[in-house]
Amino acid sequence: MCGIIACIGSDDAVGELLTGLENLEYRGYDSAGIAVQNGTGIAVRKKAGKISELKNTIARDVPNGTVGIGHTRWSTHGPPTDANAHPHTSRTDRVVVVHNGIIENYESIRRRLAAEGYEFKSETDTEVIPHLVEHHLDEGLDVEDAFKTAIGELDGSYAIALMINGTDTVYAARQDSPLVIGVDDDRYYLASDVPAFLDFTDEVIYIEDGEFAKVRPGELMLTDREGNVVDRDVETVEWSAEETGKGEYTHYMLKEINEQADSIANTIAGRIGDDGSIHLEEFPPGTFEDIDEVEFVACGTSYHAALYGVQLLRRAGIRAHANLASEYDTTTVTDRTLVVAVTQSGETADTMSALRAAQDAGAETVAVTNVVGSSAARQADHALYIRAGPEIGVAATKTFSSQVVTLTLLGHRLAEDLERGRPREDAAEFFAELRRLPTHIEKVLETTRAREISEKYLDKRSYFFIGRDNEFPVALEGALKFKEITYEHAEGFASGELKHGPLALVTDETAVFALFTGTNGEETRKNAEEAHTRGANIVAVAPDGTDVGDVADSVLWVPKTHPDLAGLLANVQLQLVSYYTANLLGREIDKPRNLAKSVTVE
Ligand code: M6R
Repeated sequence: MCGIIACIGSDDAVGELLTGLENLEYRGYDSAGIAVQNGTGIAVRKKAGKISELKNTIARDVPNGTVGIGHTRWSTHGPPTDANAHPHTSRTDRVVVVHNGIIENYESIRRRLAAEGYEFKSETDTEVIPHLVEHHLDEGLDVEDAFKTAIGELDGSYAIALMINGTDTVYAARQDSPLVIGVDDDRYYLASDVPAFLDFTDEVIYIEDGEFAKVRPGELMLTDREGNVVDRDVETVEWSAEETGKGEYTHYMLKEINEQADSIANTIAGRIGDDGSIHLEEFPPGTFEDIDEVEFVACGTSYHAALYGVQLLRRAGIRAHANLASEYDTTTVTDRTLVVAVTQSGETADTMSALRAAQDAGAETVAVTNVVGSSAARQADHALYIRAGPEIGVAATKTFSSQVVTLTLLGHRLAEDLERGRPREDAAEFFAELRRLPTHIEKVLETTRAREISEKYLDKRSYFFIGRDNEFPVALEGALKFKEITYEHAEGFASGELKHGPLALVTDETAVFALFTGTNGEETRKNAEEAHTRGANIVAVAPDGTDVGDVADSVLWVPKTHPDLAGLLANVQLQLVSYYTANLLGREIDKPRNLAKSVTVE
């Protein structure tokens, strides 16, 4: 998982590449590099560490150029060192490559090339690519054929941008890793993701798996696997560069938490009628009448949103399960199974692989995603967008709430279409509350005492999160967020499970966040009491006016709403607790160690 960028026909390739890399840094941030064609040759600069390190290196010796490629890395093969940073070059430096993905058969290619005298300068899988291309150039193939022949020898996933010394052309190819083209009159950009070039253009062309691009100033040619020219429309993306900036906030995560009233309003805009009717233009009534059951596949936060979705679908009589994408087993999948891939980025390799497995097993598929034109959106039979706007912080926040809201809307369509489905009896009340959710979130954001709670419990050694029903996924999500950005020990449990083992861990150095937002407050109170009597501090998260008894040392209040939605309000409080705790501990909030936003490796 890495980010790649190329600019073709720019007045200042170095400046634009560095901007693009900064915009892509959420995809990986352990080393970075660029290569620019400067008229006399290709200048390569690369450095271990953050992009700021690369910038410092470049500032000492700035190469000029109008065409270039760049890369920000999240290591898979070989540690983050200068040598392992991309771009990688062939032995004569004629071929320069950046790559996102994994070349699975790189060891056998490397052995073969090494036997022919090729020397490798890095431990990466990527380095075989420039050598292979040069090998085929030496055999007499032209650049296009050498590139295509080399690509044909690779197993695995890749988005590749390649330059040849002395030309102003960039060649690109993709297979199971994202790659988009930005168009600005005669200039072009290639990138792993649209935000990379949003400062320069919002006009994009999506490259499909198996396609090749040949791009020079004023000239773009896209061809398919068979060499046929592809004529694809240029699309205008709705995200703006301002939206992808931090604005007044110190961190993207805080900005994105605070955007949730707007992002949810956007998710539901035009989709809920005044009478509580649901309009999903993607899915007219009857779309799912041949479906028996729903299976979600997802990872991390998206999996927690899927677990929440399962609760809501089951309330509507729908048989539903959530699966971790990396553990997905299609044995019981039939052509009457609807497999819903929930993925913010639409690029997560585990989720993509589960989606393809579901399709191979005959399932109908839907991608619930935030990124228009993402791999999942294009792979699935249908795409349903959560419309949360760009999320840059590695910790998923606003996309969780938009995912859950989108799944409630999808659930309603399914309840109407499926034989077993029965739209909820309290639909009018539920959807009226759903429309009020942005207002309730604003109230949470205005009145939260999360910062105070973070300070109060900063010295604890463990943080537990407990809840029942739809609070359970929120407890899991609260713990994931907490561990991801604070690096402190955090676990989420179903409240009832505490006494079946985890209670042994509870001491007076434990803080337990207990969710009282559902309909099982009394049971949760008893479970919290069990932890309290063993010395834990209890932080209740509860609707205004709830009697949480004397078990709670502190309370984070949320506005009263429908119990099926209150978990989303509790989640905002927990996101803020994680944020403030991480901030007090001086953590790298937007780029937690060892992680990246988009996980495009299995
Ligand atoms: O893009 P996706 O929703 O498919 O990503 C899945 C997970 O990698 C992601 O949710 C991850 O768990 C988050 N960084 C957690 O905050």
